[in-house]
Amino acid sequence: MPFKFTEDFKARAEKICAKYPRRDAALIPLLHEMQKEAGYVAEEGMDALALLLGLPYSRVKAVVTFYTMFNREPVGKYHLQVCRNISCHMAGAEGLLTRLRSRLGIAEGETTKDGLFTLSAVECLGACGSAPVMQVNEKYFENLNDEKLDALLEDMKHGRVQR
Ligand code: FES
Repeated sequence: MPFKFTEDFKARAEKICAKYPRRDAALIPLLHEMQKEAGYVAEEGMDALALLLGLPYSRVKAVVTFYTMFNREPVGKYHLQVCRNISCHMAGAEGLLTRLRSRLGIAEGETTKDGLFTLSAVECLGACGSAPVMQVNEKYFENLNDEKLDALLEDMKHGRVQR
């Protein structure tokens, strides 16, 4: 079945487009909206968005594949994105990744069987001054260490971290 936006999404999209002098300028905000709704940006959704904005599909695809903030596949309830760029690397990011792989039993790019966690290693999150940093969905957790990470995992397992 071809991808269709909901009426609600279309209404929100028009409001967002109206804020810009040209419809194509709303591309990134609308990709965020799509991800907020479904948790990821589906391939068919990119095609539909290109039509909605009057853009070539290749432009939408290029933006989605360039920015790691856009998920191209469904992710778990908590998407753990550990920065592995230089400041975070020097502050222990690899140790955090190793700990997460071991505690969750998954590698980067994988999701736990219960659908709770997806693990990713990403490039600089722009918070180098408080390295090491991990983004969980939209929220940043900074100055992490093993203890903080373990406590955070427990909080997420018990639903004490808002999605
Ligand atoms: S290097 Fe990790 S936030 Fe910049």
